[in-house]
Amino acid sequence: MISLGSNERVTAPVAPVVSCKIIGVGGAGLALLEKLAGGISGAPDLVAMHTDAQALMTSSAPRKLQLGRDTAKGLGAGGDPALGQAAAKEQADEVRAECDGAQIAVVCAGLGGGTGSGAAPVVAHEARKAGALVLGVVTLPFAGEGGKRREQAAASLARLGRSCAAVVCFENDRMGEIVPPGAPATEAVQAASDTMSRAVVAILRMVGLPSLMHVGLDELVQLFRGADARCQFGHGAASGPDRADLAVEQALGSPLLDDGKMLPGSGNVLVHITGDASLRFGEMQSVLGAVARHLPESAQVFLGVSTDPRSEDSLGVTIMASTRTGGVPMP
Ligand code: GTP
Repeated sequence: MISLGSNERVTAPVAPVVSCKIIGVGGAGLALLEKLAGGISGAPDLVAMHTDAQALMTSSAPRKLQLGRDTAKGLGAGGDPALGQAAAKEQADEVRAECDGAQIAVVCAGLGGGTGSGAAPVVAHEARKAGALVLGVVTLPFAGEGGKRREQAAASLARLGRSCAAVVCFENDRMGEIVPPGAPATEAVQAASDTMSRAVVAILRMVGLPSLMHVGLDELVQLFRGADARCQFGHGAASGPDRADLAVEQALGSPLLDDGKMLPGSGNVLVHITGDASLRFGEMQSVLGAVARHLPESAQVFLGVSTDPRSEDSLGVTIMASTRTGGVPMP
């Protein structure tokens, strides 16, 4: 029930929980899985896929698949996406079997190198063939990594877009915006992983938590229909009396949303709010109002609201927006 008084509480009926696989591909993909393994309670299936047998051995993911046992011989793809692609194709049946039964597959990779760039689009393709809605969560290389890596990343992103309903991209150069300039490199990489893992967790919570207003898979598909696959993403969470205003401000200020500047070009926007049973109708209105100020009149907003008793006093806001740039933009 939604109560109409702005100070009344919202209670939640139960919505179906969605089966989800999170697949890390290549070095950066596996690193993100490590982050997620510690960060998600009631963890979904985590699957590590890599050409590098040694890296795979150190992964704590419960399921692991070595790609290209013959083509890459356990050694990694050495920055060559053609090798990464051939490796994933060699194991295509096993990749598809790993995705069997999943309604959502989230494919995570760092683009620019060999395994992630070459194999992730093949994994996404097989996941889609297995019947899953496929979302990508990827990093784009630092400018300083050179033009070749940038081109490899762009080509891979375009191929990923053919199988993914949406791809959340994190530009590694934006690490500088989320940590102070003097911060150690490890802190910056950690902050990037935090941002990416929040994107994955937010997607899972959105479709998997008991909901008052459920965001279904059909709505996620609708959100990205007709758009290029690249997706803007922002997440914020706050506690206390001003938690709604603070959380939406933080979400709009996310490096992946470019301080809300990315929103005006957006056609469809999804706003998802998570809180415990103390979530108030007035708080929902505040969040929607703040997002609407960044949107054109013609935008379509999908609203989802989930309640999670573990949220305690915290209110979370996730914003996902499709882009219609007519192509896959690169920094
Ligand atoms: P090969 O090593 O050639 O087999 O490919 P790979 O896909 O396993 O490479 P890896 O994932 O290690 O690196 C690909 C790109 O991801 C790099 O060029 C970096 O831009 C980025 N990257 C690698 N590790 C990390 C990480 O831990 N965090 C972030 N944010 N980016 C990373």
